Amino acid sequence: MATIIENDHFRRLRLKYPLIVAPMAGGPSSPELVAAASSAAALGSAGAAYSSSVQIEEFAAKVRQRTDRPFAINLFVPHPVPRIQSDMIERAMAATAKYRAELRLPPAQLSEPYEEDFDAQFEAVLRVGPAVFSFVFGLLSADHMRAARKAGMLLIGTATTPEEAKLLEESGVDAITLQGFEAGGHRGIFDPDGADSGLGMRDLLALTVPRVRVPLIAAGGIMTAEDIREALAAGAEAVQMGTAFLATTEAGTSAPYRAKLLGPARTTRTTRAFSGRLARGIENRFMREMDAEANAVMPFPAQNKFTRDIRVASSAAGSADFLSLWAGTGRGDLWQGPASGLIQQLFPE
Ligand SMILES: Cc1cc2nc3c(=O)[nH]c(=O)nc-3n(C[C@H](O)[C@H](O)[C@H](O)COP(=O)(O)O)c2cc1C
Repeated sequence: MATIIENDHFRRLRLKYPLIVAPMAGGPSSPELVAAASSAAALGSAGAAYSSSVQIEEFAAKVRQRTDRPFAINLFVPHPVPRIQSDMIERAMAATAKYRAELRLPPAQLSEPYEEDFDAQFEAVLRVGPAVFSFVFGLLSADHMRAARKAGMLLIGTATTPEEAKLLEESGVDAITLQGFEAGGHRGIFDPDGADSGLGMRDLLALTVPRVRVPLIAAGGIMTAEDIREALAAGAEAVQMGTAFLATTEAGTSAPYRAKLLGPARTTRTTRAFSGRLARGIENRFMREMDAEANAVMPFPAQNKFTRDIRVASSAAGSADFLSLWAGTGRGDLWQGPASGLIQQLFPE
C-alpha cells in the first residue's frame, strides 16, 4: 500500500516511517520530543497553540539545535471572540471559587484577549519556515494558505467528519488528519458549539476514503504496530499518534499527569470543563464536578484562559485533580523510554 512516504509532495520530508508524532500543546510536545521524532525519521510536531511568537521562534531554534530533519508546527485556527455576559462570568467564578481557595490562588479574573494573537503566531511560523504547517478547528483563510504556500510549507488540516474533510480538500490542503472519537486532546470539530459526530477513526476513514483524494492521516487510539497496519490497510497513508508518546523520556508531560497515565486502567471521556471545547482526557475531580455545572462553563477560548491558573497551580502542587489529563481511549501500558525506541517497536523491520 502506498503511504505518504512515496507521495510526490511529501517525499521531500525524507520520512522513513508514515508516522506523525502528534502536536501536543500545553507541554507534552517539548523541543526534545519533536527533535527525537524527526531524528528517528518520523515527523515531529510542535504544538504551538498556546505559545507567543517569541516562544515559537525559541522552540524551533531548540529543535534545530538537535536535528536538521523536517518537522511540523501546529496552531489552532482563531475563533470569533465570544461575548461573555456578566452573569455567565459570575456563575463561572462561583463554580471555581472553592478550587482557587484550595490551591491558595487569588480570586478569578477574566479579560480579553482570551487567546494568543493568531496572526502574530502565524508570522512567527513563516519566519521559522518549518517543512509542514498543521492546524485544527477549521479552515485556514485563503490569505494564510497563500502565505504558507509561498513559504514552501506543506499544509495539513484536521477533520472529524467526512464533510469537514471535503471542505479542507476544497480549500487546498496537502493532507488531512482524520481525528476519530478515540483521540486524546481537543476534538477538532470546526464549529466550537457543534454536536460531536462521535465517529470513531475506522468509520471516519471508511466514510472519507471514497470522497477525498488527498492523503489521509489516521488519528485516535492508535497504540501498536498492529493498529498502524490496520489503519494503513484501511486506506490511511500515515498515522498520527499522541497518547502513546506522552510518557516517553523526551515528552514534557508533568509529573502528576505522567502518574495518572501510568496508573491502572485509564478511564477517559470528553468534557468542556477545562477549555469550553470538547476534549478527551482521563476523568478527574475537576471534570466530574464541573460537568455537573454545565451552565458555569464559558465558551472556548474564554474558559481555557479562565481555568489556566487552576491547572498551573494544580501541577505545581503535584496534584492531578484539576489538571487537563488529555489522553485517548487506547489501552495498554505506555512506553517510558526514548521516543526512538517506541518508533522502532511500532515499525519492526
Ligand atoms: C496531550 C495532547 C495534546 C494535544 N494537543 C493538540 C494540539 O495542540 N493540536 C492538535 O492538532 N492536536 C492535538 N492533540 C490531538 C492529536 O493531534 C491527535 O489527534 C491525538 O493525539 C490522536 O489520538 P491518540 O491520543 O489516541 O493517539 C493533542 C492530543 C493530546 C493527547
